[in-house]
Amino acid sequence: MKAAITATAKYLPESILSNHDLEQILDTSDEWIRTRTGIRERRILKDPEKATSHLCSEVARRIIEKRGISAEEIDLIIVATMTPDMIFPSTACLVQKNVAASNAWAFDLSGACSGFLYALNTGAQFIAAGTHDKVLVIGGEKMSAVMDYTDRNTCVLFGDGAAGVLLEPAQDEHHGLLDAKLHADGRGSEHLYMQGGGSRHPASKETVENRMHFLHQDGKQVFKSAVTQMADIAEEIMKRNNLSSDDVTYLIPHQANLRIIQATAERMGIDMQKVAVNIDRYGNTSAATIPICIAELDEDGKLSSGNNLVLVSFGAGYTWGGIYVRWQ
Ligand code: COA
Repeated sequence: MKAAITATAKYLPESILSNHDLEQILDTSDEWIRTRTGIRERRILKDPEKATSHLCSEVARRIIEKRGISAEEIDLIIVATMTPDMIFPSTACLVQKNVAASNAWAFDLSGACSGFLYALNTGAQFIAAGTHDKVLVIGGEKMSAVMDYTDRNTCVLFGDGAAGVLLEPAQDEHHGLLDAKLHADGRGSEHLYMQGGGSRHPASKETVENRMHFLHQDGKQVFKSAVTQMADIAEEIMKRNNLSSDDVTYLIPHQANLRIIQATAERMGIDMQKVAVNIDRYGNTSAATIPICIAELDEDGKLSSGNNLVLVSFGAGYTWGGIYVRWQ
């Protein structure tokens, strides 16, 4: 049985951090950030009392309302995140409590910027097995919590946000998630990481002083791998499914850098008109970028039955992958 996306929703915190705001606190410029990344502004969850579970719970509530179901009907909640509220319990359990999804089990999935595609494919397996009817898959991040706002190399890139989808059995074998190819290469772990707070470097005076509770990235190295792998996986998904560039309705890529997105579209031979882009408004929201794009297309009434969507991502791990969805 195939799994189809039957509802979508997004939730972005209201507070905007623009490139001009960053110019006030860092040696950077709007021009540098825009031309190197495509980002103009990003959203920040300012309330210190609120974290990733807040963003994801809003998404869950909206999906439940849009689909017109009760929370008790949800069988499983998967939250893809690298900024959970706490190491444990899982953020998914907090969402389960907040929306009173009393019959759902719940877990977090750690796939960094590929987390949503990992989670989407994982959720689809439970539908395919015939054991679950309604699986909520959410990508959510409070990236501002792990940003070093004195490091211009990283803090200009990321923002906060969440979005998700409801998976249900598809009406037939020709709609829903039709193909997925996911990858990992742990050798990339040395280029993009957050060392502090885990079992290797538990929180201490030293980990704080050495700024180990912030995200670190070798931007150049990650850029090179991302540009290659995103384009390769997009091409692979097209070949595996005999899709020509004309067949693809939308490319929905992870939003890390506009130049990576453009290179992927170019390799696929598709026009930028057919590419979901919102990095200018939200920056890189890690596991949330792809579902935010899907939710925006859906809200704008741009998705109709039979549309071919190619979703591709790349992130820390390294992790990367592609999923082919025929919209139901
Ligand atoms: N403002 C101004 N200058 C900045 C800056 C900023 N915000 N950030 C970095 N710079 C400087 C660097 O210090 C460097 O200066 P130097 O040459 O004097 O050392 C210079 O700009 C050029 O840096 P470089 O690394 O060559 O820039 P780039 O074109 O590679 O762009 C990134 C940098 C981070 C935008 C780019 O490498 C990138 O997008 N990487 C991948 C990001 C990614 O995909 N991450 C997540 C995967 S999920």
